[in-house]
Amino acid sequence: MPSNPFKRFHDALTFRTKAVLAIIVLLLFIFLTVSIVVLSSNRRDFLHQAKRNSLEMTKSIVDACIEPLIISDLNSLMRIVHSTTRNSNIANIEIYDGSFRVLASSDLSRLGTIDSTLAGAPEIEKLFFTEEDARESTLWLSDWTVLAPLEIDDEILGALRIEFDEQAITHEMNTSLRNVSERLFLLALLVFAIGIVGALVVSYTVTTPIKRLNSNMLTFQKELYRVNENSSDGRRNGGDELKQLEMGFAQMAANLRKYLDELERLNEEKQTMHCMAVIGEMSTKIAHEVRNGLYSIRGAAQYLDKALDNELVHEYTRIIYESVESINKLTNSMLDFARPLKPNLKKCDLRRLIHKSVTLLKSDFEEKRIRLETKLGDSLFVRADENQINQVLMNLLLNAIDAVAEKGHICIQAEKKNGQVEVCIRDDGIGVPAHIQNEIFKPFVTYKSQGTGLGLSTVQKIVQSHRGRVWVKNNSDRGACFVFTLPVYAENEVRV
Ligand SMILES: Nc1ncnc2c1ncn2[C@@H]1O[C@H](COP(=O)(O)OP(=O)(O)OP(=O)(O)O)[C@@H](O)[C@H]1O
Ligand SMILES: [Mg+2]
Repeated sequence: MPSNPFKRFHDALTFRTKAVLAIIVLLLFIFLTVSIVVLSSNRRDFLHQAKRNSLEMTKSIVDACIEPLIISDLNSLMRIVHSTTRNSNIANIEIYDGSFRVLASSDLSRLGTIDSTLAGAPEIEKLFFTEEDARESTLWLSDWTVLAPLEIDDEILGALRIEFDEQAITHEMNTSLRNVSERLFLLALLVFAIGIVGALVVSYTVTTPIKRLNSNMLTFQKELYRVNENSSDGRRNGGDELKQLEMGFAQMAANLRKYLDELERLNEEKQTMHCMAVIGEMSTKIAHEVRNGLYSIRGAAQYLDKALDNELVHEYTRIIYESVESINKLTNSMLDFARPLKPNLKKCDLRRLIHKSVTLLKSDFEEKRIRLETKLGDSLFVRADENQINQVLMNLLLNAIDAVAEKGHICIQAEKKNGQVEVCIRDDGIGVPAHIQNEIFKPFVTYKSQGTGLGLSTVQKIVQSHRGRVWVKNNSDRGACFVFTLPVYAENEVRV
């Protein structure tokens, strides 16, 4: 589960939403970059142009001032000042003579005074020379204040000072920049709309086949593996289409693995059953032959025992009887095991059957002072053959009793699970090593000196004939746990 909220948010979005969001972020980035570049270059161009215009205006005023200055026509100079100040971009204008005396000014109080800012300046001739000794036609006193010489035939008669209105120029520039921004914004809206439609079309084209593949995969799994719909769909909620496809693949791989495991298990079961059928057939024939032979040996021994009154003969005939009995017991159990099982299926109360087998084995439990625990669910009715299930319980309990030490612990647990009753017989005995867990269900596999090795194979045979399963696992601490399942009895079930 992703704990990061950003990752959770990212996972919750569909591919389409992600594509649209990505396009919006990309376009926003492009729009901001383009806006910054365009506006800053526009601003630079505007200021450059404004300065050029100022210089041209200054030049034309200078031309107009020369003649009235030569003839000292102060009225004309004042008219020039008045007409110039009508231009909203000009804040102040002043015309000086060669000693910086104000001859005409937009500020009448300054007429006839010497300009205090230029009073300390070198002679007017030298003022317009730069360090490289080149004559300048204008001097910028500050950003927006220009001083231009009034000259005729290289003789400087005076100077013209114009102070441009920086605020007015900035305002004009801002208006122009706002117009550019509005146009950029409209253009961005158009590009955004086209981008979003494009993203939707592309994501639709990409996700449609993915969705189809996803749903085909789900249908395929449901049909082939009979996947539980709720559990599988639950895991595929959330995330975009690609994520769902990835999860779908993982799920299909997991189901396929489960399916193959189940197939392998069924195959093994089939092989075991086939093997048991062959053994059964063979052992029936052998057991019959052996039994006939045994009867003859026993008959002959009886005859010798009666005919000869000799201690040694009595001793040997007793050994022959015992051996014959033991072989006879084995052949009988072989015949029992080989006999095909035809369970007489009826409604059985498993709780009652468990209590019955526990009662039958009471003395065995007491002998080893075993602590027995039962954890049984309510109404455990199964469709089974009572005698056969009794045999299953007895075989498993006898094995558990054999496995535990004195004062050991055995627990019988039974509950309903997925339409079946699951019975688990757990002990704290020696446990079953992993490498023999499959072996012990095969006939005649025993690790006990007196065992036949038919107990667990009989259990498996019975459980399988009831359409159940049996398996063993080791407990996490110690001991083994044998589990078998039986189908639950359903009142209205169709008998086959
Ligand atoms: N609860 C258990 N704990 C440990 N090992 C077990 C347990 N149950 C069975 N086994 C092992 O499985 C082997 C096979 O058991 P199975 O019941 O088939 O035969 P057996 O008990 O040896 O002989 P029989 O049942 O004929 O007396 C046993 O020999 C034993 O080694
Ligand atoms: Mg046994």
